[in-house]
Amino acid sequence: MKWTEEHATGVPVVDDQHRALFAFSEELRDVLENDAGEKTYDLSLDFLKTYAEVHFGIEEKCMLAHLCPVAGRNRKEHGAFTRMIAEEEALFRSQGFDRQRALELTDRIDQWLDSHIRRIDTQLRDVVTDGDVASRS
Ligand SMILES: [Fe+2]
Ligand SMILES: [Fe+2]
Repeated sequence: MKWTEEHATGVPVVDDQHRALFAFSEELRDVLENDAGEKTYDLSLDFLKTYAEVHFGIEEKCMLAHLCPVAGRNRKEHGAFTRMIAEEEALFRSQGFDRQRALELTDRIDQWLDSHIRRIDTQLRDVVTDGDVASRS
């Protein structure tokens, strides 16, 4: 799935990070569909977890700083994403690599990103007028 204008939040750094998350999921799917990615799967999960954590932190701060009405829901839904990755990580550790399960994860990531960004993150557009993550305008 690709980032489109419908995912725009009006905050450049947040949009860049969303683009990167979509791009990473697409790359991972390509690799998995080409019968590769098994050896680096733990690194992929690790990257995803770390990158999402950093992104969520920046975005949550931005919503709080601009008194965004969905700040609480945003944070809660981020927790669900983190759990989704942690669950896959636990399955990977206990049952090993499963290409089908990994491909399903990329679908779930795309669906989550698309739905969450459209419903929640784009509400930043209404409160951030200067594209600045930190200060209130
Ligand atoms: Fe978010
Ligand atoms: Fe986001």
